[in-house]
Amino acid sequence: MNHEQEWEQRLTDTLKSVARRPDLKSYVEKTPWLNSLLQRAAGQYVAGEDRQDGHKVARRLAEARYRTSLEFIGENTADVEMCQAAAEETKSLIRELGEAGDRVSFDLSHIGLSVEMDLAYRQLIRLAEEAQTANVELFISMEESAKTDRILDLYRQAVSHYPNIGITLQAHLNRTPQDLAALGDSPRRIRIVKGAYQEPAEYAMSRSAALDERYLTLVQDAIHRGHLVSIATHDERIINEVINLGLLDSGNAEFEMLYGIRPELSAKLQSAGYPVRIYVTYGHEWFLYLCHRIAEYPPNLYRAVVAMASDEAVEPYQAYIGTT
Ligand code: FDA
Repeated sequence: MNHEQEWEQRLTDTLKSVARRPDLKSYVEKTPWLNSLLQRAAGQYVAGEDRQDGHKVARRLAEARYRTSLEFIGENTADVEMCQAAAEETKSLIRELGEAGDRVSFDLSHIGLSVEMDLAYRQLIRLAEEAQTANVELFISMEESAKTDRILDLYRQAVSHYPNIGITLQAHLNRTPQDLAALGDSPRRIRIVKGAYQEPAEYAMSRSAALDERYLTLVQDAIHRGHLVSIATHDERIINEVINLGLLDSGNAEFEMLYGIRPELSAKLQSAGYPVRIYVTYGHEWFLYLCHRIAEYPPNLYRAVVAMASDEAVEPYQAYIGTT
């Protein structure tokens, strides 16, 4: 590792731990000037604090023929009432989706997993029922490896009653090829990501050519098993490989990218006729989300500083719409 890479790694580690510090989060919330400054930086990736902000951005993207996912951001909620409030918010999000999209995503630890499995399961079923009535896909995000077994258990129990539920799998975990095989061959909705969390070396691979290779193999395997696959990456090399291998030809796969990240790539793929879904987030927990987006790509720190210093409103959806 050279000097520059060493500093990038230190920045990544620092931001991932800063994102999890409640004292810093609460300091930011209680300090108006800092809060509004950082919120400007977060505005590049988060639609706003309210559900209407999420709907507005998703609707604009849908009008420009993108598929969308919407998420009310949050995780690791340890208070029962807050879990119930998060589930209620997600329920309203589903109910009001209308033309804005057909997929809602969430973290199980936002709605009960950090309290107890039963609570998480009850909330999951309520959301799945609401989503089924509204003809919406309900996608479970994947969290730290300490939770993988519990998340997969809840998913397996629920999906046998509600096939509209999808699951996210992380290519960086060494167990994922087996987890994918264990889902069987009945068609499921699966999102494949590289993985955002820091994991012990014995459980996971770090970013490398070997991880990219495993990612592609998982995508191929999932498609061959007949699953509906969201290829959730901004890695242009992988995206080109997927196209060259003809993996989208079955009509069962799509690209999915986070709102505000590489919009020009999304626009290029979409205008070339490939199905592209944009994952839009909103809510008060933007601090954690902002830290993650900078941690996974440190040059985003420059964008954050420019956004904080700029007088112009940040409107990332223009970059998707302007070019279509
Ligand atoms: P990688 O990190 O290797 O980056 C490859 C290239 O993509 C970079 O060189 C850069 O060009 C570009 N890029 C990547 N991140 C960027 C950024 N922030 N800003 C600008 N450019 C960037 N994770 C998880 O653990 N659980 C989950 O449930 C989800 N859910 C999820 C849904 C969707 C729709 C997406 C796209 C991603 C997730 N993730 C996730 C996050 C995922 O695990 C991963 O951390 C990010 O997608 C970044 O990894 P890439 O695959 O983009 O490749």
